[in-house]
Amino acid sequence: MKGYRVAIVGATGLVGQEFIKTLEQRDFPVESISLLASDRSDGKRLFVSHQEIEVKETLPESFKGIDIALFSAGADISRHFSPIAAQSGAVVIDNSAAFRMEPHVPLVVPEVNPEDIKRHKGIIANPNCSTIQMVVALYPLHRVNPIKRIIVDTYQAVSGTGKAAVEELTLQAKQVLEGQNTVPHVYPHQIAFNILPEIDVFLDNGYTKEEWKMVEETRKIMHANDIAISATCARVPVFTGHSEAVHIEFSRPMSPDEARRILTQAPGVKLLDDPVISLYPQPWAAAGTDEVFVGRIRQDASHPRGLAMWVVADNVRKGAALNAIQIAEEMIKREWLHPGGEE
Ligand SMILES: NC(=O)c1ccc[n+]([C@@H]2O[C@H](COP(=O)([O-])OP(=O)(O)OC[C@H]3O[C@@H](n4cnc5c(N)ncnc54)[C@H](OP(=O)(O)O)[C@@H]3O)[C@@H](O)[C@H]2O)c1
Repeated sequence: MKGYRVAIVGATGLVGQEFIKTLEQRDFPVESISLLASDRSDGKRLFVSHQEIEVKETLPESFKGIDIALFSAGADISRHFSPIAAQSGAVVIDNSAAFRMEPHVPLVVPEVNPEDIKRHKGIIANPNCSTIQMVVALYPLHRVNPIKRIIVDTYQAVSGTGKAAVEELTLQAKQVLEGQNTVPHVYPHQIAFNILPEIDVFLDNGYTKEEWKMVEETRKIMHANDIAISATCARVPVFTGHSEAVHIEFSRPMSPDEARRILTQAPGVKLLDDPVISLYPQPWAAAGTDEVFVGRIRQDASHPRGLAMWVVADNVRKGAALNAIQIAEEMIKREWLHPGGEE
């Protein structure tokens, strides 16, 4: 099989590290790999498939000869370097929010809209982590019985904010248990033993940007502009794994058993739903796994066409690195590496 020259921008970060691990675990056809980060990491050495590779500062010339560039270094870096990488002939798969809502940039979850990859012009966006796991669980139901409205409340792990947030929770947990004061740096308040209903900035409409991403990205990925969506996103003191309480209103009634039958067959979904033995998805158990876990499926007592469920996935893996690599795999399988598209 042909090998590809891959660059990882943000290779020293949480998602970058997960990129390396996932490429290895899935036997991705890598011919060569460039590890890129900020100038602070220039010269650091990381292991890829038992080989030590030097990290380099990300520069415009870093993308010469690269086939696939996986970006996870924040929106500003993506905005600056992605067009340069695409100009150099690489296909960029970007984890940041920089291009997600650009009409000409496909926003892809391979279990939902793989065919959108085809119309890329050199940049493909990876959706927000909370959105990815929700659409993997909801799209198979939507195909059978169109969804009219979604109410979702998220319980998001600190790893979604990056390595500094993981360090902050670790330190604060220790400080609280030892009776010391905590000083928040990453978040506006202490995160240890606390919950913060603030992820990303507040918008004029009272929602946070994270909540609004769930609204807009879900509609774009599912090609369903009419779905009414309201989200509340909360940061919780969990290291890995986002959890979501999702309430869905369908066009017609759907029984919990029918939803379970559909989800048992759905790609990327694993059903964990047996209240008798306290079986339901938990972030602790989802960490390090590929699937989107669904459980607590029940009739929504407040609506005749409603279902409620609990959805959990590893935010760094399916919510970021794995989804991006699945996009690359799909692109290779369908021979859509070169920008073509309908327009
Ligand atoms: N964590 C998640 O669950 C998740 C999910 C979906 C999307 N994302 C997105 O992925 C991106 C990275 O997230 P993360 O969690 O991996 O963050 P992180 O752990 O804080 O890592 C940030 C990475 O960006 C690099 N970076 C910072 N400034 C740079 C610069 N000027 N030039 C080049 N590289 C630079 C850092 O390199 P240094 O080590 O050299 O500073 C590091 O490799 C963000 O856009 C985030 O929104 C994250």
